Amino acid sequence: MKRFVTTILAGILALSLAGCSNASDQQSKFSQQGNSSPQGSSSQQESTGSEQPNTSSANVSDNSDASDIQQEVVNMPEGFVLINGGTFEMGSPATEAWRSDDETQHTVTVSDFYIGVYEITQAEYSEVTGQNPSNFSGDDLPVENVSWLEAVRFCNARSKKENLTPAYTIDGNKVTWDRSADGYRLPTEAEWEYACRAGTTTPFNTENSISAEEANYYGHYPYEIEGNYFTQENLTTKPGQYRQTTVAVNSFSPNKWGLYNMHGNVGEWVWDYYGAYPTEAQTDPAGAESGTLRVYRGGGWNDFAKNMRSAYRATLAEDKGSFNIGIRLVRNAVKGSGSITSEGSQNTSGSGNNVLIAFFSWGGNTRGIANEIRSQTGADFFEIELVNPYSNDYNTVLDEAQRDQNVQARPEIKNKVENIAQYDTIILGYPNWWASIPMPIATFLEEYDLSGKTIIPFCSHGGGRFGQSLTAITKLAPNATMGEALSIHYSGGSSMPGDVSAWLDANNIPRN
Ligand SMILES: Cc1cc2nc3c(=O)[nH]c(=O)nc-3n(C[C@H](O)[C@H](O)[C@H](O)COP(=O)(O)O)c2cc1C
Repeated sequence: MKRFVTTILAGILALSLAGCSNASDQQSKFSQQGNSSPQGSSSQQESTGSEQPNTSSANVSDNSDASDIQQEVVNMPEGFVLINGGTFEMGSPATEAWRSDDETQHTVTVSDFYIGVYEITQAEYSEVTGQNPSNFSGDDLPVENVSWLEAVRFCNARSKKENLTPAYTIDGNKVTWDRSADGYRLPTEAEWEYACRAGTTTPFNTENSISAEEANYYGHYPYEIEGNYFTQENLTTKPGQYRQTTVAVNSFSPNKWGLYNMHGNVGEWVWDYYGAYPTEAQTDPAGAESGTLRVYRGGGWNDFAKNMRSAYRATLAEDKGSFNIGIRLVRNAVKGSGSITSEGSQNTSGSGNNVLIAFFSWGGNTRGIANEIRSQTGADFFEIELVNPYSNDYNTVLDEAQRDQNVQARPEIKNKVENIAQYDTIILGYPNWWASIPMPIATFLEEYDLSGKTIIPFCSHGGGRFGQSLTAITKLAPNATMGEALSIHYSGGSSMPGDVSAWLDANNIPRN
């Protein structure tokens, strides 16, 4: 047991240090503080579509009514497949490990549609837009760091280039989707999950687990590692490689319907606003009528397996991009009807004049960064302290933290922010714990009304960067605006003060 932990940690450390500007400093912090990262029924759906045609060009499938198929499908580009519509259970069963409450199972029917076999590459994106915003670089790598708004603009630009009717009318943040248009568009959340599952009802389309040989993710953390970290007894898949980068879009084996990287590599924007699922059956649903967050699906290169599940729902504001979110396109195969208008409802950023630094730290790294922010801004300071603090022992806190996360605990906070109303901006710091926020941050976010305020997150981590912590924050404070977030590797080393200055400037936070 000890040997495993050491081996994993050594591996993580080596990998983490590869991207670190001051390796020796990182290493000393790691050992000094002793707060190393914990790196370290294949049954078919009832749907008609569990056996899909494996086409790469647009053919009318046997179970489709040819008269419903739009004429232009004969021009469907290579790299798309026809997905025969069908009915499936969207969401996850109550028995699925690491599910969230927002995955309520309900019956959904989707119509036929075409979907890209691959995520959109950087070459494809730059050919259409003349730009490449990606964090990693390579023609065959998926484009990432595109916001939802940029993704719908890309859909339209490609449609226009190919003389198709654009699916969207875009006027600033107001986007109207013409469901009858034949142009490129984002999948709905339901289409995405239907295509990902490819007839499976298990947590992954590879059934009950997924390995780093099957998908690009934070391979040290396969499904259910959290509760089995020390013994590894009940793991179907053992820890594997963490590549720390995106990979070519045609990597790994496709799912049963021929789609590559539905799990991992980059998450994929879908059309839908985030909201609670209805419990009654739906046909071609398109998400909540209004909202502040868009959904992205499938998990990315730095996600834990639990956050790549077919049912897992990640969220971000529509004007934000991330190094682990990209695009997969679809087109109608059956003419839709009606239109949906959505109006970007984000709040405008706070002025940054009344700033509170609020943070939770277990080992001191986050506290060190918070102190640096205070010295650069002079902002008010609030350290979240618990009535019942976590253990000081590293192995014990690992266990306590994953249990708290699993039951979505809300540990009681001992102290209070006096008059939160006076702040328009909360700089919120925390360590990445099990690829998300520590649960005291959830208690904090629920305790105060942060509507209309700007939350600027900073996260100290051991290699997983933000994990899914930004999703967790957006879900807990949906009516706050999120500023540009900062991730710092452990204490950040000697470059930390400079990184903090640049980030404060990017967020228009006045410095002394
Ligand atoms: C309970 C626990 C869980 C952790 N989980 C992760 C993780 O999932 N990903 C990661 O990159 N680092 C993880 N770490 C490492 C911490 O994020 C990292 O050491 C951070 O610098 C700690 O900040 P602090 O000193 O302010 O507590 C974890 C550490 C602990 C104690």
